[in-house]
Order: sequence, then C-alpha cells, then structure tokens
Amino acid sequence: MIKQSPSKIKTGSPENFISHAQISGIGIALPEKIITNFDLAKTLDTSDEWIAARTGIHERRIGDKNTATSDLCVTAAQQALQEAEISGSDLNLIIVCTVTPDNPVPSTACLVQERLGAKQAGAFDLSAGCTGFMYGLTVGSQFIETGFCQKILVLGADMLSKITDWNDRSTAILFGDGAGALVLTPSHAEKSGLLKFRLKADGSGASFLMVEAGGTRSPACEETVKNRKHYLKMEGKPVFKFAVNAILDGVTGVLKEENLTVDDIDCFIFHQANIRIMENAAKQLKIPMEKVFTNVGRYGNTSSASVPLALYEARQEKKFTTGSYVLMVGYGAGLTWGSALMRW
Ligand code: COA
Repeated sequence: MIKQSPSKIKTGSPENFISHAQISGIGIALPEKIITNFDLAKTLDTSDEWIAARTGIHERRIGDKNTATSDLCVTAAQQALQEAEISGSDLNLIIVCTVTPDNPVPSTACLVQERLGAKQAGAFDLSAGCTGFMYGLTVGSQFIETGFCQKILVLGADMLSKITDWNDRSTAILFGDGAGALVLTPSHAEKSGLLKFRLKADGSGASFLMVEAGGTRSPACEETVKNRKHYLKMEGKPVFKFAVNAILDGVTGVLKEENLTVDDIDCFIFHQANIRIMENAAKQLKIPMEKVFTNVGRYGNTSSASVPLALYEARQEKKFTTGSYVLMVGYGAGLTWGSALMRW
C-alpha cells in the first residue's frame, strides 16, 4: 500500500497540515580579518581600480590558519538556533553544503553535529560548488514537506581562501570565507515559506571550475603539490556567461511554475560572485537593481555561504518583510545552478 505523505493530509487540526518548509532562524559567521584590494595589489599584478571595475569587490574576509570550515559553521549555527528558539539536541538533520570541508573524511557535518550536541540528528555534507546552499535548502525542504523531519539545520559554508592560489590574480581577487546557517521547520499556513525550487546541472562545463588533484583521479602526491594542482582553477569568461544564463533560467523557471512575474518579487538574492553578472542578468530580466540585494563588495564570492549571508543582511536592512516574495538563485562549479521562491 502506498503511504500518503503527511504533508498532503489535511485533518481537523491545522498543526497537522504542513504546507511548506519555512525559515525559523538565520545565523552567519565571518572571519575578522579583512583583505582589501589594496592589500592584494601589494603582492599581485593587479589594482583596486581593476578589481572594483570588473567585479564590484572591494574587500573580503579571510580566515586564519587555525580556523576551519566547521568553526564558522558552529558560530553561524548557534545564532540560527537561538533565533529559532531551539537547541542542537532538537535537530533531526544537519546538512553542511561545502566544497571546503575540514577533512576529506569524515564529513564536516558530523564535526558540527558533535559540537552542537545534536544527538538526535543525522548529518551529511553536500557538494554542489557555489550552488551548494541552494541544493541543501531544496533537499532539507523536501524532508520537512514529507514530514520525515521537523527541525533541520542547513549550512552554507566555505573557506575558498584555503584552496586559492594566492599567486593567481585571475582567481585570488574573487574569493572570501564565510558561513550562513538556516533552521528549517514546517509552515502550517498556506502559501507561506519555501514554495518552489529548481535544481539544474551541466557537467559538460566541469573543467571551467576545478581543483584537479586531491581526489581519486589524481591523488595528492609530491608532484601534484609541486604543480599547484590543489588550487581552484577557473576559466573566467565562459563562467561569466554561464552565470548570467543561470540567473535567467533560475528566475524565469520558478516564476513560470508559480504564475508570477518579476514584478511580483520584492527581493532578489543572487549568488554574490560579481556585480556585473548580477547587473547583466537584472537588465535582461528587466529587474530594477534596487530589488537585487548585493554585498559582494564587502565579502567577495563566499561560495555556499553567499546566498545565506545575503539573505541575512537583506532581512536586516528590511529589503523584505512578512508576506514578501523573495527569489534566491545560486550557480557554480559542476556546473550547477538552482533557485528557490519563498514567501516570508
Ligand atoms: N588584475 C589586473 N588585470 C587582470 C586581472 C587582475 N586581477 N585578471 C586579469 N587581468 C587582465 C588580463 O590579463 C587581461 O589582460 P589583456 O587584455 O592584456 O590580455 C585583461 O585583464 C582582461 O582579462 P579578462 O580575463 O578578459 O577579464 P574579464 O573582464 O573576463 O574579467 C573575471 C575576469 C574573472 C572578473 C570575469 O571573467 C568573471 O567574473 N568571471 C566569472 C567568475 C565567477 O563568477 N566565478 C565563480 C562562479 S561561482
């Protein structure tokens, strides 16, 4: 017999009806150390003028050598749990979206689970490049909607500084470290919470953003280290083009399914990689830039942390309030992209 998902069962009591997942708490963590474009220009053949004009980035946060991804996760998680008024022991599941785990084995999620005292929770890492958080949000929301979990922690956390070649001016100027955490719980109101998702991938562009060594294709050895194969390599131009198209597809895809237009959306949160990518996509979609939240200038591209960091700050700046529609889009290595439509 096929069991009906609890989310679709409407009984007498409204608490038994789960319409969607909702965000009950948000937290962030950023390393204290700020590296400005002027700092980078001291060691690289670049300038503040070039970086600011081509990317919109002015500074980024970089963790010290003693800080690992799980440290940022724990700080962000504690803040999110506090807002949600729950503790680690209440969690059913922890998803850490990252491409820069503390160790290849075990998962960073398990390290976070232990430090949060989340004794009832399952925990796993999710890898989808800078789109990781959008994938994690989608996966977590499905578990809430089916009734399998009631309290989920989704973290987007990366320390790309640890896999950046600081001698490569084409990538070193772009990235920063950070973490964002969300607590997902069931929403019992109609049309409220995380309404629609879109996940996409195109592995034909895998080589555009890649760390060549350290995996099974090319395990770490003296040679790979000598040849700097453990750093992130990127082909900027095709990635730029892909990124703009990813935003176009992410936005139009979910809006069409929900019968909405860009004018219905109060706030757009795009992955913060380059202001020109956001401006280019916004122009094509006819979205005024006032509706596109940006903080790339202060943090650079923080990979999986970028969407939750922007969401946190956009809420602080009251770019959306109760009842607002918020549309988030992520894109990155894989290639991958994904979007989510939310009614706050
Ligand atoms: N400082 C100064 N000059 C630089 C430079 C730097 N940091 N990096 C490249 N240049 C030079 C190049 O050598 C080139 O010089 P040339 O014309 O003499 O050959 C010139 O600037 C233009 O380089 P180009 O690579 O064409 O610049 P661009 O306009 O494509 O901008 C990126 C480069 C990386 C900013 C841009 O391609 C980009 O943002 N791509 C997407 C990156 C991204 O979002 N990645 C993450 C996705 S999750």
